[in-house]
Amino acid sequence: MKATKITANTIMEAGAEFNLDQIDEVVESVLNTVKNSSKNILTLKGDLGAGKTTLVKSIAKKLGIEETVNSPTFTILKSYKIPVQSQGVLGVIAGRFENLIHIDAYRLDDPEELGALKLESYFADAKNLVFIEWPEKLANILPSSTIQIQLETIEGHTDAGAPDVVKENIRKIKIVE
Ligand SMILES: Nc1ncnc2c1ncn2[C@@H]1O[C@H](COP(=O)(O)OP(=O)(O)O)[C@@H](O)[C@H]1O
Ligand SMILES: [Mg+2]
Repeated sequence: MKATKITANTIMEAGAEFNLDQIDEVVESVLNTVKNSSKNILTLKGDLGAGKTTLVKSIAKKLGIEETVNSPTFTILKSYKIPVQSQGVLGVIAGRFENLIHIDAYRLDDPEELGALKLESYFADAKNLVFIEWPEKLANILPSSTIQIQLETIEGHTDAGAPDVVKENIRKIKIVE
């Protein structure tokens, strides 16, 4: 575990590497970024397994959402009520947003299905805090004003020097606001 604390600033300036023990610091950093921004849509880019769903689940948990947050790969969109909170950053976020919307556009290829989902109406409602996995699939309808999160799996070397072994539990996150 790294000694340096992960903050919104470090993630935005240089990006930060983290393992699952540090995900709470990443969650707090993302929530601080939302707090200090007028934007309500966050895009999550990264390969399969990069940790997009894991991050949304962890954010939902931090916001006090008790329902299980699963990847909405087949339903495309899931909406969760954000419970009232009284203190700190959580209080600010819960005061501003009513719903956490989780979209996974991975399987979205049919323009008719896309039209039927009416995603634009979810984007336009400032009471919705929207997280989008595979935003590339929504390029045509995505508002220009989003907070962009990039996640990647870090590849490196084991202590024994074996080449190109994936450090399975380490991810790198970068946020562009
Ligand atoms: N530092 C980390 N951050 C996020 N996920 C991690 C991390 N280390 C290991 N994992 C694991 O990697 C997997 C990421 O899967 P998931 O969040 O579903 O990715 P995605 O939604 O990007 O396809 C999970 O099994 C998770 O437990
Ligand atoms: Mg996912």
